[in-house]
Amino acid sequence: MTHRILFVCLGNICRSPAAEGAFRARAPHYMTDSAGTSGWHIGEPPYGPMQAAARSRGIDLSDLRARQFGIEDFDRFDLIIGMDTENIRNIETLRPAGNETPVLLLTDFALQSGADHVPDPYYTRDFDGALDLIEAAVAGLEAHLRA
Ligand code: 4NP
Repeated sequence: MTHRILFVCLGNICRSPAAEGAFRARAPHYMTDSAGTSGWHIGEPPYGPMQAAARSRGIDLSDLRARQFGIEDFDRFDLIIGMDTENIRNIETLRPAGNETPVLLLTDFALQSGADHVPDPYYTRDFDGALDLIEAAVAGLEAHLRA
């Protein structure tokens, strides 16, 4: 049974906390967390402009703090969701021998969007566009897990 879900991006201050926040708002009975493949922002809350964009949609990210993805996460979670193919590559590099935890792209659950990754709003500055895609994808993920 898929109950523990980890969302992963590069910095763990924009996309993955937004995905975790959007998913838990919709499906609070799951155990969720998020992490970054980098350790650049460890201990920091989500990036201010992302928090503000999420808050304006009723999604509160203020309790989240960045941490780095680690090999123990393969055992702690039933499903690991990356935001782009670089995230997936960096996650797979750490996979322990014999571990079979699924590692998927968030956009696998938003096929009608045509997107093959979540563009990083830290660089694009399009926080609302990222949230539109993230909200569609977490709805698809929740429906997939319920089916
Ligand atoms: P995220 O965005 O991976 O969606 O959290 C980033 C945030 C910060 C940096 C890179 C990506 N950075 O280079 O500091």
